[in-house]
Amino acid sequence: PSPQLVDRFGRVVDYLRLSVTDRCDFRCVYCMSDKMEFVPRQQLLTLEELAFLGRAFVELGVSRIRLTGGEPLVRRNVTELIHQLGQLVGLNELLLTTNGSQLAGVADDLVAASVQRINISLDSVDPVRFAAITRTGDLSSVLKGIRAAQQAGVERIKINSVIMRSQNDDEVIPLLEFALERGLDISFIEEMPLGDTGREDRHGQLVSSEEIRQQISSVYSLSASAVVTPGPSRYYQIKGSDSRIGFISPNSHNFCESCNRVRVTCEGRLLLCLGNEHSVDLRHVIRSSPGDMAALKQAITDAMQIKPEKHHFYDADQPQMVRFMNATGG
Ligand code: GTP
Ligand code: 5AD
Ligand code: SF4
Repeated sequence: PSPQLVDRFGRVVDYLRLSVTDRCDFRCVYCMSDKMEFVPRQQLLTLEELAFLGRAFVELGVSRIRLTGGEPLVRRNVTELIHQLGQLVGLNELLLTTNGSQLAGVADDLVAASVQRINISLDSVDPVRFAAITRTGDLSSVLKGIRAAQQAGVERIKINSVIMRSQNDDEVIPLLEFALERGLDISFIEEMPLGDTGREDRHGQLVSSEEIRQQISSVYSLSASAVVTPGPSRYYQIKGSDSRIGFISPNSHNFCESCNRVRVTCEGRLLLCLGNEHSVDLRHVIRSSPGDMAALKQAITDAMQIKPEKHHFYDADQPQMVRFMNATGG
């Protein structure tokens, strides 16, 4: 079938990031402020609405859906949604990004629901450090979650590490070795300036992918991987290891020209770009004409016309983005 979601720049959208909640049991310093207010419950999409949306996107040619949050696994009965999405004809991949804290209890169920790949956030392998970065998190629960996902037979597990100056920029090698020893992939992520997290001068504290790559290269010989995906990560490998080592560099290396994705926030706002506010209120469409699949698909198709060309993180004339990462889904 010919692609149905195409924007003004000819980019084909075949990947949806669906945020199922803005709530989370952690309060990571780069994602939230320590006094977060969450969206009132009636403004969240229901699980039925989320399933309906997922079906609309798949019928429009989306072949991969990644569930995000907040923390997707704190949403009650989320595994029911995951099972439903897993059965959609035309969906090739169902993916999950999680903080791992609740993973141990549901890993088998996720595999049964056809979740193939899971990304798990891990910014430190030191328990005290981990507690400081996540504010409310406990490293041992995440380690348990990672083990459970491996035992359950998840095809690929990727660690996501946001590296921050003076917080964990000395943990690049320990995090890398954590992944290598367990046969996991790992992505090092440059911090994006979403939401007023209360931390000063995030720009000045930015640790670039280049700097991280140099740290690694002083210990291991990195070579560009043959794996090239339409996602933001650029992958490298170390001889003798299957682990992919990715770098996500929204600030130092703009990957917008090959962008294949859109997001839906937990309130049902279709966001056309992570770094811009261009959006369409799909919750309004769903609630004003319940069950009207044609209307929903038309609204999604029309929205492609307002997908911006690129984001402008850290441009001097950009105001602070008010939207927090947890409401956006990463
Ligand atoms: P794939 O599904 O394999 O592409 O995984 P991913 O690495 O994109 O997903 P994940 O949820 O693990 O996100 C890792 C990081 O990439 C997060 O910090 C996301 O915010 C960031 N990210 C994902 N997509 C985009 C994007 O389109 N633009 C920007 N700037 N960052 C993105
Ligand atoms: N900048 C970069 N990455 C972020 N994440 C959350 N907030 C930010 C931010 N401000 C990451 C998390 C998670 C993924 C979905 O997004 O670490 O792995
Ligand atoms: Fe929760 Fe993920 Fe945000 Fe951390 S980054 S507070 S784990 S949603």
